[in-house]
Amino acid sequence: MTGRVKVSGSKNAALAILPAVLLASEKVSLSNVPDITDVRTMLRILEGLGVTIRRRGRNALDFYPSRLRGHALPYSLVQKMRASSYLMGALLARLGRATVPVPGGCDLGPRPIDQHLKGFAALGARCEIEHGLVKLEAEKLRGGHIYLDVVSVGATVNLMLAAAAAEGRTVLENAAKEPEIVDLANFLNAMGAVIKGAGTDVIKIEGVKRFGGAVHAVIPDRIEAGTFMLAAAATGGDLVIGEVIPKHMEAVTAKLREMGAEVEVAPEQIRVRRKGPLLSSDVKTFPYPGFPTDLQPLAMVLLTAAEGTSVITENIFEGRFRHVDELKKMGAQIKIEGRTAVINGGGTLSGAPVTVTDLRAGAALLVAGLMAKGETILSQAEHIYRGYEKIEEKFSSLGAYVKPLRERSSEEVAREPL
Ligand code: UD1
Repeated sequence: MTGRVKVSGSKNAALAILPAVLLASEKVSLSNVPDITDVRTMLRILEGLGVTIRRRGRNALDFYPSRLRGHALPYSLVQKMRASSYLMGALLARLGRATVPVPGGCDLGPRPIDQHLKGFAALGARCEIEHGLVKLEAEKLRGGHIYLDVVSVGATVNLMLAAAAAEGRTVLENAAKEPEIVDLANFLNAMGAVIKGAGTDVIKIEGVKRFGGAVHAVIPDRIEAGTFMLAAAATGGDLVIGEVIPKHMEAVTAKLREMGAEVEVAPEQIRVRRKGPLLSSDVKTFPYPGFPTDLQPLAMVLLTAAEGTSVITENIFEGRFRHVDELKKMGAQIKIEGRTAVINGGGTLSGAPVTVTDLRAGAALLVAGLMAKGETILSQAEHIYRGYEKIEEKFSSLGAYVKPLRERSSEEVAREPL
């Protein structure tokens, strides 16, 4: 694969910012919003709650959230994705109550929300889980001191949302430091919130009574950028990946260099190429700025091409090895023991029919298909559209052969929301 590719806006930042729109009392204009199915699902949820949405272009939207209709969310939409849990914090902030089905999302093993609920309780909300619904209510949210037991992106987002509208000061300790948290804080601050320390592990929030509107551009997607960086190395290609924030990519850049790929970093782009053999390596996933768990399946695919033994340790989600059986169908030699995968690399993968089990596993199998001899057919590939915009177009423009087996009919396209 050779050529230049542009990264879309960040899925996880957009999925935190969209619920935050509910706090606004005036028009909000967002740009660089990725056109992916998770974002469309969130837009449908916001519309269902009474937000008027106008599309200004593929990636630009205006929101008019002045009148909301309700606080309860439909199970059918919410169970599709994890980020719908952010509606708990956003609705609590805006209406003082929320009824949200216990959230779904990628099946990566147990994904508790105890830290979210513990935080809401510290801000004065009553929480109950009944018949698969999380019910939250607060006459008045009050700032509090919260120490998260685990570093959780979701809990950090939810508690920032609720605390932004609480009376007084909230201190959130052991907070997640992901760039998407910083982007959400910047957006909330643009609407009038007072949030300091986002990007460090202590976030301080002074609650405010009223939020205005805002104009905001979503940051680039570091996981999509990492997908192309790892794909370039995996296929022995030469890619220039544009619209990235190189600082967000440091863990991936360092790992690729260690494995023998050349990585050139410029202010807003990264070039990755590989001419020589790949070297085996060990990868351990950690919260940001560590190596992201969302790129672990792709790192595994890359390591199948590195001569010798490599070890991956998955520290974030214990169930995140469901791609391994599929990679084995393609000839990969991988053994799992608990949170560790041992990869005996150096062989050539062979194309096979495989099943996509979750979003990032899908991206990994797609790249494995590009490395393999022969044809690979991905079933349940729709998982990939949850998080990657124009994925076939982008890979095809780099010289790869990636085609949907069935094009969507014009009726199906017309029925798609927004
Ligand atoms: C978010 C991202 C996901 C990414 C993950 C880790 C979104 C929409 N999703 O998921 O792409 O893979 O961060 O970077 O942004 N935990 C608890 N109790 C809780 C909450 C979390 O024990 O109340 C645990 C989880 O089981 C997991 C760890 O904390 O082991 C991290 O999870 P968390 O950061 O919350 O992930 P998500 O926000 O679900």
